Amino acid sequence: MEKIIDENKQGETLIIDKKEGNQRKLFIESYGCAMNFSDSEIVASILSEQGFNTTKILEEADLVLVNTCSIRDKAEQTVRKRLQEYNAVKRINPKMKVGVLGCMAERLKTKFLEEEKIVDLVVGPDAYKDLPNLLAEVEEGRDAINVILSKEETYGDISPVRLNSNGITAFVSITRGCDNMCTFCVVPFTRGRERSRDPQSIIEEVNDLWAKGFKEITLLGQNVDSYLWYGGGLKKDFNNASELQKATAVSFANLLELCAKAQPKMRIRFSTSNPQDFTMDVIETMAKYDNICNHIHLPVQSGSDRILKEMNRLHTREEYFEIIDNIKRIIPECAISVDLIAGFPTETEEDHQDTLSLMEYVKYNFGYMFTYSERPGTLAGRKMEDDVPETIKKRRLKEIILLERKYSEINTRAHLNKTVEILIEKASKKSDLQWSGRTSDNTVAVFPKEHYKVGDLVNVLITDCTSATLIGKAIDYSKNN
Ligand code: SAH
Ligand code: F3S
Repeated sequence: MEKIIDENKQGETLIIDKKEGNQRKLFIESYGCAMNFSDSEIVASILSEQGFNTTKILEEADLVLVNTCSIRDKAEQTVRKRLQEYNAVKRINPKMKVGVLGCMAERLKTKFLEEEKIVDLVVGPDAYKDLPNLLAEVEEGRDAINVILSKEETYGDISPVRLNSNGITAFVSITRGCDNMCTFCVVPFTRGRERSRDPQSIIEEVNDLWAKGFKEITLLGQNVDSYLWYGGGLKKDFNNASELQKATAVSFANLLELCAKAQPKMRIRFSTSNPQDFTMDVIETMAKYDNICNHIHLPVQSGSDRILKEMNRLHTREEYFEIIDNIKRIIPECAISVDLIAGFPTETEEDHQDTLSLMEYVKYNFGYMFTYSERPGTLAGRKMEDDVPETIKKRRLKEIILLERKYSEINTRAHLNKTVEILIEKASKKSDLQWSGRTSDNTVAVFPKEHYKVGDLVNVLITDCTSATLIGKAIDYSKNN
């Protein structure tokens, strides 16, 4: 599971082990990126101390929370529809309270309470620790809202409860917010300024996960390469730090190394990287440690220099190619994935061709591709006309998707007749007799279960494949097991 959560995970209800003595029932549902799913684990942890156990049955919930996404208009519409469905249930169970969390809460603020009568509670991404107070207000019959963005909050001191966990893979959040201000993107407005989490609390979480049997973590942030710890504070204030703080600062490559060393058998992934902040020492650290997985998610959004500039992506096409060349030179087997946007304002056919030729150059393993969706409040939303007609956006997106599929399939086939290491995550969706897991380069593989079990690292000979799934047979345990 990478940055964008599987389509079939969207709206998943999250369940944790029941805490003895808890009487109230929480139904919590998440949409959007991995960060939202990770945040819901923090929220469930906070509410577990307030007497709430989670439930999958909406009708029996005392509190319904929906963790929302604002990245594209469609994401917001999905949540609006869901609220209508909660409304129908509230007629049967009038005591049920409904809260909206996450990016839509932050973007719409009190408007939510005005527009959606069903909503009792609106909480932005930096205000989850205030939930107990806010709930107390709601219980007294008042609507409650906290959408204050913080300069410090990283929830580093909250031990997230793992929701619907397979017990094997987990997210560990390392930065919050984003300072990049890509002109199309609402995230800097909904998640605030960029701040990094204390490396010590990250390592403690990684150690704790290992002790609980987890075998793979994904370090999460909107822009992980920008991670910088110098004793707390905003990334943008680093220049004012003391000499000592600067000399002992921890960069993303340092953090990767700390995690890799702390648990040498824990598989480590990270997401998302940003070309303008990506540094060579990250590739070198990946190459140095076997347990850091060979996959980099490196969104480019467009292959046209002119559009990159309009998007305020602070790098050129050539600079992106340099990074790609370096990755392929130092880690030839490294998978690379991408996010692309079709039909950004003023995008011409020539710009679009530049995107296609960039894709031909990189030959991505995976991709997340979208048509441009104008977001209110962003620079592009305010200053640029959304002038590429929807039909053209869709046609360009289709061409992008076709090309992505072509290379994804070629990259999948390249595993044929090779032996690859798979971490077993769960039974295959198609057959209960097969295990499903992923290679270091993040390709899904299925193979007969035999005597192996969930959490084992197994060497698997790949004998066949579909366009995106490897099919094979286990040979033996991996030496990393
Ligand atoms: N750096 C973040 C980006 C979050 S947004 C991260 O990866 O964690 C995820 C992707 O959504 C972006 O990379 C971009 O491709 C897409 N996106 C963001 N805003 C968009 C918009 N207004 N319209 C269409 N796609 C958008
Ligand atoms: Fe958005 Fe750009 Fe940050 S896509 S999350 S502003 S790196």
